[in-house]
Amino acid sequence: MTTLKRRAFIGGAMAVGAAVLAKPIVTLPGSVTKNLMQSSRALESRIDVLVGEPIATINPDIYGHFVEHLGGVVYDGIWVGENSKIPNTNGIRTALVDAMRRIKPSVIRYPGGCFADSYNWRDGIGERSKRPRRTNFWVDAPESAVRGQNVPQNYEPNHFGTNEFMRFCQLTNGQAYLAANLRGLGAQDFYEWVEYCNSPAGTTTGADMRASGEVPSREPFKVQYWGVGNETWGCGGNLTPEEYAAEFRRFTAAVPRYGVPLKYIASGSNGEDLNWTRGFFARTREKGEGIFNNIYGWGLHHYAWNLSQGKTTDWLAGKRDALQFDAAEYYELLREGDRMESLINRHWTVMGEYDRQHRTKLVVDEWGAWYKPGTEIVPTHQFGQQSTMRDAVLAGLTLDTFHRHADKVVMSNVAQLINCLQALFLAHEDKFTVTPTYHVFEMYAAHQAAQAVRAEFIAPRATYTRNDKPADFWGLAGSASLKGKQLTLTVINADINQPREAEINVSGARINSANTRELAEQDVHAHNTFDNPRLVAPKDAQVAVTNGRLVHRFAPASVTRLQITLG
Ligand code: AHR
Repeated sequence: MTTLKRRAFIGGAMAVGAAVLAKPIVTLPGSVTKNLMQSSRALESRIDVLVGEPIATINPDIYGHFVEHLGGVVYDGIWVGENSKIPNTNGIRTALVDAMRRIKPSVIRYPGGCFADSYNWRDGIGERSKRPRRTNFWVDAPESAVRGQNVPQNYEPNHFGTNEFMRFCQLTNGQAYLAANLRGLGAQDFYEWVEYCNSPAGTTTGADMRASGEVPSREPFKVQYWGVGNETWGCGGNLTPEEYAAEFRRFTAAVPRYGVPLKYIASGSNGEDLNWTRGFFARTREKGEGIFNNIYGWGLHHYAWNLSQGKTTDWLAGKRDALQFDAAEYYELLREGDRMESLINRHWTVMGEYDRQHRTKLVVDEWGAWYKPGTEIVPTHQFGQQSTMRDAVLAGLTLDTFHRHADKVVMSNVAQLINCLQALFLAHEDKFTVTPTYHVFEMYAAHQAAQAVRAEFIAPRATYTRNDKPADFWGLAGSASLKGKQLTLTVINADINQPREAEINVSGARINSANTRELAEQDVHAHNTFDNPRLVAPKDAQVAVTNGRLVHRFAPASVTRLQITLG
């Protein structure tokens, strides 16, 4: 944050006059609160982009996805089978592949999640008809509508395994991020999965197996990203951080590289469990600080649970509906999602106490909204939920947070890709639609590999009633990035009712032209369905720039991308 520049603006804004003395408290993204009198309407809101203050390059892997053998993600979502009437490529849904390519998916995490903690990769290779059937991790999930039924969601047929997943990655131009089973399998199994994927053609039995089967691949997959366990504090082994630190070292010691720069991702904290981070980093550091060179990423999982105004903390009972929500629940979800910023900062601080050069970065490998069951398309889609404009706002808010911390966050994976939690796609049999969250990923793709630069947002706060008391939430927030003379600015207006008119300034540069792509609907509950798949879709517009001055009105509960050409 640039105290000097903001102070200069504050002084300027106050000098313009006190025509409108609205709300005196303005919160800037990054949780900095300032007392500030609002000035005239034209300056009611203001965005300052500080192009001279780079943060870091935005890693395209921030636009990562997550595919778990859970509900309708793999079966019915991605995998329809080679003999299906549904258009497919090697059994993979073609409509999904086509839509994925448009958003540059960067990296895809697989096969879980908790499913990975009970998965044997050997079950998913070779001739499909000979693959074993296994009990899926989620068979006893309390919220499942198909409990006790003999369906692939409960009893895994293994029709989709490593080679099919790698084919999916090739088709969509995504990189694989494979999560290893640390709870049930050993370091040798992990070693052999790496060998299966990466050893050169003809050199090992693993390479020979890879080149046989249903989707043979003579060429190695060259998988770089390897998750060493998942949620090892819970479903992944119920370990202590110290126990996990020892397991992590054992799994990753002396794995052959086959010319591939292996990047290990350690199973990090659930939300704000700083003790997990501290315990792991402290124990790992006992082997010397250099060991952090071997840990590319420290995982972080954070879901927006929408516990609805603190009425209950019960895991299931506390969740609210994906479609039916009032203003308080809308803000409550955003508030939950917005905690991401402080989680990043707090875990980063602890990590730096042990890894002083910050060799290990953050990988937020599960994030998104999580509602109660009831809006899933079909009962087999466990954890399936509808996705509205509220979720689009949450997605934009979260991606903007990652950009503002591009120096710390090198990857993120929204949970999950299709038919599950904050999905980008919904599909059942031959029906398919994108969700509002998909459009945010498409709009924000312009940030990938650009230089994140500091931006400051000053706007009146949104107000609402929470537990019968007045509450508020920030009005405007977002992020900015630069590629040459092209500035991408993404902005969320979180206010469910009020538009925000803002003047946009770029310090040290002249604005030549600008255009917008906006995702906004009259009703924040708006969502796409199979019958109306284009109800929520972005709209493009050219914006008038007069003498380098750019003013834009941001619609309520909207996500906007401005592309600004600088002089
Ligand atoms: O995304 C659903 C589940 O949430 C994942 O399997 C698990 O890692 C997390 O608890």
